[in-house]
Amino acid sequence: MDYLKAQSVNALHGTINISGAKNASLPLIAMTILAKNSVHLSNLPHVADIRTLLKLLTNLGAEVDFLEDYVCVDTTTLHETKATYDIVKTMRASILVLGPILARFGHCEVSLPGGCAIGQRPIDLHLKALEQMGAEIEIKAGYIEARAPKGLQGCNIIFDKITVTGTANIVMAAALAHGETTITNAAREPEVVQLCEVLHESGIEIEGIGTAVLVIKGSAGKLIDIVDFSIIPDRIEAGTYLCAGAITKSEITLTNVEPKHLDAVLAKLEEMGSSFTINETSITIHPSDTIKPVKIITQEYPAFPTDMQAQFLALATQADGVSIIEERLFENRFMHVSELQRMGADIVLNGHTATVNGKTDLSGTDVMATDLRASSALVLAALVAEGETNIHRIYHLDRGYDALEKKLEGVGAKIERLKE
Ligand code: UD1
Repeated sequence: MDYLKAQSVNALHGTINISGAKNASLPLIAMTILAKNSVHLSNLPHVADIRTLLKLLTNLGAEVDFLEDYVCVDTTTLHETKATYDIVKTMRASILVLGPILARFGHCEVSLPGGCAIGQRPIDLHLKALEQMGAEIEIKAGYIEARAPKGLQGCNIIFDKITVTGTANIVMAAALAHGETTITNAAREPEVVQLCEVLHESGIEIEGIGTAVLVIKGSAGKLIDIVDFSIIPDRIEAGTYLCAGAITKSEITLTNVEPKHLDAVLAKLEEMGSSFTINETSITIHPSDTIKPVKIITQEYPAFPTDMQAQFLALATQADGVSIIEERLFENRFMHVSELQRMGADIVLNGHTATVNGKTDLSGTDVMATDLRASSALVLAALVAEGETNIHRIYHLDRGYDALEKKLEGVGAKIERLKE
């Protein structure tokens, strides 16, 4: 198993190029199931989750050609409709194949994803919406068995809660359904927006893209001629490196970013004292000498993302004063707190709220990554912790960060990947 050894640095400097967004790539790869052509996706990040989904498609019979940062996916050869446990257990987002396979073949089996480090994460809203579209769904021996022999029917769906992959799943199902589907309380994340835009450019009528109400006219079962496209930049990766600049008080420039996707993150960093030079596709952070405390509540886009909560918590340990960070989306997303406490952080957890008393001097030690974003919070802490920090179980990190240690090394961090 790999681990990272990191040492504190005086300052970082230079430029980091941001990769394509993992969370945009996943639904867009699943979307290729709806294609009648072979689809070219570029700007894909090199992360484990993408390889997992491409492997799942290959197992189902698709032909996948992955070259550097672009992939060509041909699903016309797809013949299997069962997503088995061995893959789904490693990545919950495998559930994204349910909507498109069911819409195309009229039946689909997907292993139930099971538990998750950051909370229960049910998929009831995906299933309820597909049932409203006429699917018959049974849970048998750990599998979701879905059938819609006459195809899915457009209908009105009102999500009880905003769900990102739930919205993506139903958008894909609706694209091939008979008639019109209205999704109310849809997720507005940029990753969902790109999925809708690509389908729209490929001939599917979708109204309300980027709003909470999507109206999708289905193709009545006809496969779609999907256009080639480039994945949007990863706003969470970008946010993480902005936090690296803020915590080490270093000027760093990010390239290949979409600044407008980072509004909530930039606003909080500004409150903490940083300023920015923003161009069309680049951001330079000008950090302040003292970091101010902050109040953060995680919510759905366009509010502050839960996927940046752990990184800001690490940053708050270096703020002069008391920061309050409230997690509203996932019930157990504070696993990084105990690891940061082991490094010397003063954090009090009360239910969904973490109170961070700064500033504390952190010390390097052995810590364990518990989930994807928790891992990067530990890396950020390690950059300013006295001495050496060994971050174990970085397979979590590898799921979603493209070459993190190489990108940080490139701006002067002392960090290396070693074997246990
Ligand atoms: C996606 C992102 C993840 C991010 C999360 C919230 C991907 C691959 N992952 O996850 O990085 O942290 O959005 O921004 O894009 N819920 C239900 N029932 C459901 C579905 C969701 O109760 O059927 C609840 C969840 O438990 C959670 C909330 O809704 O409390 C939001 O979850 P959701 O938006 O579905 O998260 P994911 O799509 O899994």
